[in-house]
Amino acid sequence: MSQPKRALVTGVTGQDGSYLAEFLLGQGYDVLGMVRRSSTLNFERIHHFQDRITLVPGDLLDQVSLIDVLREHRPTEVYNLAAQSFVPTSWSQPVLTGEATALGVTRILDAIRIVDPDIRFYQASSSEMFGKVRETPQNELTPFYPRSPYGVAKVYGHWITINYRESYGMHASSGILFNHESERRGLEFVTRKISHGAARIKLGQAKELRLGNLDAERDWGYAPDYVRAMWLMVQQDEPGDFVVATGKRHSVREFCELAFGHVGLDYREYLVQDPRLIRPAEVDTLVGDASKAARVLGWAPEVGFEELAVRMVEADLRLLATNQ
Ligand code: NAP
Ligand code: GDD
Repeated sequence: MSQPKRALVTGVTGQDGSYLAEFLLGQGYDVLGMVRRSSTLNFERIHHFQDRITLVPGDLLDQVSLIDVLREHRPTEVYNLAAQSFVPTSWSQPVLTGEATALGVTRILDAIRIVDPDIRFYQASSSEMFGKVRETPQNELTPFYPRSPYGVAKVYGHWITINYRESYGMHASSGILFNHESERRGLEFVTRKISHGAARIKLGQAKELRLGNLDAERDWGYAPDYVRAMWLMVQQDEPGDFVVATGKRHSVREFCELAFGHVGLDYREYLVQDPRLIRPAEVDTLVGDASKAARVLGWAPEVGFEELAVRMVEADLRLLATNQ
């Protein structure tokens, strides 16, 4: 009988890592989830399947920990989803962001090169790399113009992945993923801030919601659809770079309309625009061309913008009602 495939997921406690780990379990994988030390447990997103995966200690800031994890557990695939992923924090902590989000990619690639260069690798690259966009929609060949220390760090991570592929012949792929959200999205990101805020106001737990730039536009998809694309990239005979997006763009304001509208409220009565939430440099509009992913991977998103907003608001209503 053939051995099950074994995958290491860095960032398993995050939104995407939790969905990817569940998806891989469904595909029959042995799943290793890398977690860093913390004074309190932060396993909310994985507790419902935690006993079915192996948690291994490691940190992208610590090279030896990465080599040890690979030597001890011998994965056949590594998905590098760990990063300092919140754009505003990248201005207040630019060096930490560079260490984790940029150099962290080299550390894990080099650990693979040392331990077993046949391990297949996925890097979580980002549409933030397009920043002040050079063309619309953005595809795999669109030049980058990052607008935040986070975006700059992701450009480094993207190119070092290509460099290890070309220098050492490694099966290393880079997924240029546009924004994707879910019921498990961190509370600081705008969609979750809005769904949670609308639910709190509806339940009488808050009176207002403070936001920054309402006119920013994003190409928002559903996270479980996007982790499927990550896996498909790693299964290809040839590694490559793939844009993953819905091809549709919407504004922050539209998300507010949908989320508040779903609970019968007019967002304009509760929204306060807070200049402190405006970023030093903004990415005004992103929209991706995922035709290569459709053609080569056979990938297409299943959940659209409206359904996404409704799912998120419904989940927050349930969550807040049980915590009341
Ligand atoms: P997330 O929810 O913020 O999760 C980030 C994960 O990285 C967490 O598990 C976190 O661990 C871990 N991490 C942070 N620093 C680490 C370090 N030094 N060593 C080890 N682990 C560390 O992010 P996400 O939304 O799931 O995104 C996953 C990846 O895709 C990230 O690389 C992100 O930049 C990228 N990406 C996301 C999107 C999107 O729209 N979601 C789009 C494009 C690209 P703790 O739980 O301990 O903090
Ligand atoms: N977070 C936040 N909070 N964003 C706000 C707010 C607010 O109160 N008000 C307006 N926005 C606007 C931001 O200015 C930005 O233009 C947009 O909402 C989206 O912000 P986020 O949800 O924080 O996501 P992001 O686009 O900056 O970054 C996310 O997507 C990237 C892919 O393009 C993150 O998941 C990154 O890790 C990811 O790479």
